[in-house]
Amino acid sequence: MVSFIGAGPGDPELLTIKGKKLIDSADIIIYAGSLVNPQVLADAKEGAQIYNSATMTLEEVLAVMKDGEDKGLKVVRVHTGDPAIFGAHREQMDALDRMGIEYEVIPGVSSFLATAAALKKEYTLPGVSQTVILTRMEGRTPMPEGEKLQDLARHHATMIIFLSIGMMDELSATLRKEYRPDTSVAVVYKASWPEQKIVRGTLLDIAEKVKEAGITKTALTVVGDFLGDDYELSKLYDKTFTHEFRKGVDA
Ligand SMILES: C[S@@+](CC[C@H](N)C(=O)[O-])C[C@H]1O[C@@H](n2cnc3c(N)ncnc32)[C@H](O)[C@@H]1O
Repeated sequence: MVSFIGAGPGDPELLTIKGKKLIDSADIIIYAGSLVNPQVLADAKEGAQIYNSATMTLEEVLAVMKDGEDKGLKVVRVHTGDPAIFGAHREQMDALDRMGIEYEVIPGVSSFLATAAALKKEYTLPGVSQTVILTRMEGRTPMPEGEKLQDLARHHATMIIFLSIGMMDELSATLRKEYRPDTSVAVVYKASWPEQKIVRGTLLDIAEKVKEAGITKTALTVVGDFLGDDYELSKLYDKTFTHEFRKGVDA
């Protein structure tokens, strides 16, 4: 059995208890060394074999998994954040299916959630946006038809952009075609790590501010009026609103 584990955004205390127990008892650990905080592995078993997948190909990762499985060893594959978000996860699961190797998936705290926590904001504000778009700029991975940044921007939803911090000029210029140019933007570098940095601005000045801050990787860009202070109160806690668990009072 191979266990895929979401290691969380960086802070080792943001790893699930289940994920930690599996890592600490594993015989073989394959972790995404470019982003996973090595401290997540601090309590690994003595003698555990540790592989950094940053320098490995898919075939090499699969070969380590297969070898571990054949020897009856406990293998964990540790991904940053949650493996379901830009994790190159599906191709590994499908290969294990083909090899007849069982696996499980332990979710993790994605960096986009650690980013909301760092900003102390809520992505889904009543009357502002009830939709969150997680996306990226087109890079070496092309965007499918209809998913170009400008297409998505037409919704004016809360937008969270991964893997694109090196393209801030193009990103903000594209978004300005659909959002108000003074729409708030925040960039969070290494959310939840000790070196976390937050840069706030608008679609007009964020690219410049990010350059000044020297941020070139491991950052998320979040865009939308959820960063502002105008919104409606929720119905859930409205004293005049009746729902399954509480009877509202007359206004
Ligand atoms: C390959 S994706 C993996 C995302 C990961 N699976 C997740 O759920 O957060 C890597 C990108 O995620 C973002 N990222 C990962 N960790 C981050 C963090 N702690 N703070 C800000 N952005 C982060 C950056 O945009 C980075 O380029």
